[in-house]
Amino acid sequence: MRKIISGLLILGCVLNANEAKTSKERIDAMRSMEKSMATIQKGFLYNDIRIVEEGVKALKERSIHLEPPLRGDEILLNKKETYKYKFTKKQAYRMNIYADDLQRDFYNGEKKQAMYAYTKILKQCMSCHARIRKW
Ligand code: HEC
Repeated sequence: MRKIISGLLILGCVLNANEAKTSKERIDAMRSMEKSMATIQKGFLYNDIRIVEEGVKALKERSIHLEPPLRGDEILLNKKETYKYKFTKKQAYRMNIYADDLQRDFYNGEKKQAMYAYTKILKQCMSCHARIRKW
């Protein structure tokens, strides 16, 4: 009996550690994407395609690894409903398409179109936040 209890305790610790790591990784990924979006905006304002490209590249690298909050995060995020895996992947996919559009439009001197693509990316970010955290 004692063995079972200590086994369960150890398992609990391992699971907890995993959860914390997952959440920290996600926050890191989020902060990195936020930085990429700021970089893209800087590229717009300085009218510098290299800065835009740098932001787009970094955003694409991170966003393809977007994962939905996991079951254990229900407690963390104070919400019963977990985010759908398939939908998250779709959002990440869309973000990548819009990022390509943005870069191409900026390159072609279509600044307004590029800004429009930027807001479409931001929409993907905000729609997930609104659902998960009511932000
Ligand atoms: C699939 C859902 C989802 C998408 C899409 C998403 N986020 Fe998030 N974001 C989250 C979650 C969940 C949190 C809360 C993280 C936590 O507390 O574990 C978060 C938190 C953040 C934070 C706050 C991090 C902190 O330090 O508290 C920033 C900044 C952020 N996201 C930026 C972005 C940007 C920029 C995008 C789009 C390029 C984006 N997010 C897209 C789910 C998402």
